[in-house]
Amino acid sequence: MSRLEGRTVLLAVSGGIAAYKAAEVVRALVRAGARVRAMMTRGAQQFLTPLTLQVLSGQPVATDTFDLAQESEIGHIRLAESADVVLVAPATANLVAKLAHGLADDLVSTVLLAVRAPVLVAPAMNAHMWENAIVQRNLQALRAAGMRVIEPAEGFLACGYEGIGRLPDVEVLVAEVRKALTPADLSGERVLVTAGPTREALDPVRFLSNRSTGKMGFALAAAAWRHGAEVTLVAGPVQLPTPAGVRRIDVTTAAEMRAAVETEWATATMLLMGAAVADFRPARVAEQKIKKGAGRLRLDLEPTADILGAVAPHKGARIVVGFAAETTEVLAGAERKLREKQLDLIVANDVSRPDAGFAADTNAVTLIDREGNREKLPLLSKDEVAERVVERVVALRAARAAAAS
Ligand code: CTP
Repeated sequence: MSRLEGRTVLLAVSGGIAAYKAAEVVRALVRAGARVRAMMTRGAQQFLTPLTLQVLSGQPVATDTFDLAQESEIGHIRLAESADVVLVAPATANLVAKLAHGLADDLVSTVLLAVRAPVLVAPAMNAHMWENAIVQRNLQALRAAGMRVIEPAEGFLACGYEGIGRLPDVEVLVAEVRKALTPADLSGERVLVTAGPTREALDPVRFLSNRSTGKMGFALAAAAWRHGAEVTLVAGPVQLPTPAGVRRIDVTTAAEMRAAVETEWATATMLLMGAAVADFRPARVAEQKIKKGAGRLRLDLEPTADILGAVAPHKGARIVVGFAAETTEVLAGAERKLREKQLDLIVANDVSRPDAGFAADTNAVTLIDREGNREKLPLLSKDEVAERVVERVVALRAARAAAAS
């Protein structure tokens, strides 16, 4: 279950042009299962009507501390107390300054002072305002007070400038909210994740590959970041946006993936090997496009190196998780790989099912550990499978730490 399910997100919207994006933020949070209570400054209401957020959230929107009807229905202190997490998006320089100095001259600033839940602040403003030393000092004050400042993105700004100051994408804001509701039980870990297929060239225009889309690996990287880890994602050729907070290294071939993994493994503390690495590659890559010719074409393939098999034996106390893509005898095959590759955990995946494995949004897997414990998970979204895998890794890590002490 998503950690947003049944949780209350208090969204504070202040008056910058990015306020219009608050409508999308509300929709995304509601879709993820959250209850959203929105409150808006007077400035925000110049850009977006409270009615819009009220309809999208299905909840009354708070705008005025001294409105008798609102105060009797909601009550600004109760609003503060209702929050499991608070997102200020967009946060103007003015609201940041008020927060930094503890001002409470309207509903939003008053409620934000009364809040006990974690507060995420997503500033959005003109690049020069963002770089202003006073604004930066105020943001530092918010950090020092325990708030999380979500850095703005770079790009085209509404004021006509190109630069830093854009409100980050909705997906990033939702990921940050989820992270705030997730225990940071992988903090201090440097998790290396691989994802996607590899491509092995036959000639300048053709390649051998497989049907992996990278969804499972990307979901694993996002989950590890949510749990507080520093995450590096080595990705084969896929069409997916980089998950929030994750450092990404793009590779194409199995050899490139191996080189990247070996380099990163030197400083990583965990490996989640979600990639569908090619087992074979053409023994020779034709320099020119192979012509049709008259008869058959025979491909001469040579094996690629087994990345996991090469790094896992040198892992020491580090946790290594593999995936097993199988079409028959799924569990037996996975158990064999767990043993042979000396893994701590393997995720057995029946990739012959249409609702699981490659390209699907859902997955049905069984987790098998070194003691032979099997945990069959129901059909879940890849996001949820990733969450469960990471939770198992957290448990393994705790068990290991307990055994060592
Ligand atoms: N793997 C790897 N390097 C390879 C092939 C696979 O590191 N050259 C990793 C995969 O990322 C996965 C695990 O090994 O985590 C198992 O991959 P899978 O393709 O299921 O198994 P193989 O080892 O390739 O065995 P087989 O082809 O016999 O099923």
